[in-house]
Amino acid sequence: MSRRILADARSLFYAIATPQMVAHAAVISSRAGEVAARLDLDDDDQDLCAAVGLVHDIGKAEQVRDTGFHQLDGAVYVEPTLGPRVAGLVAHHSGASTEALMRGINLPYPREQSDVAAVLDYCDLTTLPSGRPISPEERRADIDVRHGADTPGPRALGSIWADVLALDARLRGLVAQSPSGLAPGLEVPDPVGASSRSF
Ligand SMILES: [Fe+2]
Repeated sequence: MSRRILADARSLFYAIATPQMVAHAAVISSRAGEVAARLDLDDDDQDLCAAVGLVHDIGKAEQVRDTGFHQLDGAVYVEPTLGPRVAGLVAHHSGASTEALMRGINLPYPREQSDVAAVLDYCDLTTLPSGRPISPEERRADIDVRHGADTPGPRALGSIWADVLALDARLRGLVAQSPSGLAPGLEVPDPVGASSRSF
């Protein structure tokens, strides 16, 4: 199942993705697979993390946009090909559950609260639109500046922020315990002002 879902996600995504979408999502896909492996998730969940990392923002594509709430538009778009689990993860990623409540939008997908969902949120919220890995604090500051800290999207991040920081701390602990097996190009972003460390 798992190899198939990643291949299908790639077909779906690269058929319509702009270079800007690729810059962000391809890195998140790679990092999500790597983080999932680091957390010892099973092979299916590692590939699921990579697949959903790739398509999580597909609702921003011109061809996919419908309601304008990209998490919902993306979920509707991916469901026929990638199934309801991926659709649910896309629909609820990075605080979308709370943002949808604020905006009065119904998300007709169950919210999965799992390691896979946490990995997706973590990787999205530690990767800039350019694809550069960055600390959670810097990423949140970047989102606040671009969207406005008082708007629903940035405000909704507060509902998942403790989980993002907890996974960040957990990964730092795992990397500290295991200096071997570094993956080139993948990093656990360090806090502001600290030197970066390969992951
Ligand atoms: Fe994203």
